[in-house]
Amino acid sequence: MELFNVVEMLQLAEKPLYWVGALTTVSLVLWLVYHILSGFRIWVLGNGDLLSPKLGKWAVVTGATDGIGKSYAEELAQRGFSMILISRSQEKLNDVAQSLESLYNVATKTVAVDFSQVDIYPKIEAALAGLEIGVLVNNVGISYPYPEFFLHIPDLDNFINTMINVNITSVCQTLCFRAKGVVLNISSASGMYPVPLLTVYSATKAFVDFFSRGLQAEYKSKGIIIQSVLPFFVATKMTKIRNPTLDKPTPERYVAAELTTVGLQEQTNGYFPHAVMGWVTTVLAPRCVVTFFALRMNKAQRGGYLRRRKLR
Ligand SMILES: NC(=O)c1ccc[n+]([C@@H]2O[C@H](COP(=O)([O-])OP(=O)(O)OC[C@H]3O[C@@H](n4cnc5c(N)ncnc54)[C@H](OP(=O)(O)O)[C@@H]3O)[C@@H](O)[C@H]2O)c1
Repeated sequence: MELFNVVEMLQLAEKPLYWVGALTTVSLVLWLVYHILSGFRIWVLGNGDLLSPKLGKWAVVTGATDGIGKSYAEELAQRGFSMILISRSQEKLNDVAQSLESLYNVATKTVAVDFSQVDIYPKIEAALAGLEIGVLVNNVGISYPYPEFFLHIPDLDNFINTMINVNITSVCQTLCFRAKGVVLNISSASGMYPVPLLTVYSATKAFVDFFSRGLQAEYKSKGIIIQSVLPFFVATKMTKIRNPTLDKPTPERYVAAELTTVGLQEQTNGYFPHAVMGWVTTVLAPRCVVTFFALRMNKAQRGGYLRRRKLR
């Protein structure tokens, strides 16, 4: 009698189970096709034409004298934007401005300020007043000189204030001067999960990512694009990487790829190999494994740095 009931129940369930299986398969296929097509749209076709002076004559880049910021300045000048370059050293600003003017025949303005100070914003506001700004790249940022345990960081109070002012306050305050167009906020892959021994840096970059995504939701309907950019390693002065590789590209290569994602992704790793790394470390690998390896890598780097310093 019991056996009969089980067989009967299975027969009854056969049809609904068939439909559950069919719907699951169709959903998976649609999900896969959607991701392949949108991947093709972003990484193969791209959206390279969006960033043009039609958005506004001027583009602003903070931290524009080196690394990723300098590459943004070069790419945007090449597209015909007049450039406002903001960084610390007037001498370096003059060099970059001269090079952009002679290479791309564009107008430039420079603003020398130290983003570790909070009284600089009236000077920036005055420099930008009345200009038609189409693009703002909030790029300026600093990291640790070497990975360190929080309580062992030399001159900790000053370190915290400087990092917050340069990495967070700069993004919020400079954004006040924008009303339309495109804003690119340079966060970091370190903001996608906690990175031990670079904890303050990682937390400031998580702020930039959340801030950008929240603002994009607030202002999307007004036609403003605010993109959160989260690179993995790029070969710049900050990372001290001298030999670029596929996964640690030159800033020029990184920025050229990143600019094709604007308008297609609100949050982006900006460069296909970095997008794969982002997917592996957030979707595939468990968080505890990512944290474990990040801690191990940074402990090794810290050890190497401290040994080299003792040898000197
Ligand atoms: N490189 C990477 O692997 C990587 C990865 C993820 C995210 N990021 C982010 O990308 C951004 C750029 O990094 P990067 O590697 O290109 O850095 P970088 O090569 O060290 O260049 C930093 C730029 O910012 C300027 N700057 C630094 N401190 C400043 C301050 N207090 N006031 C004004 N300007 C200042 C520098 O000017 P000076 O020449 O005067 O110092 C330089 O122009 C940062 O926000 C960083 O967190 C970088």
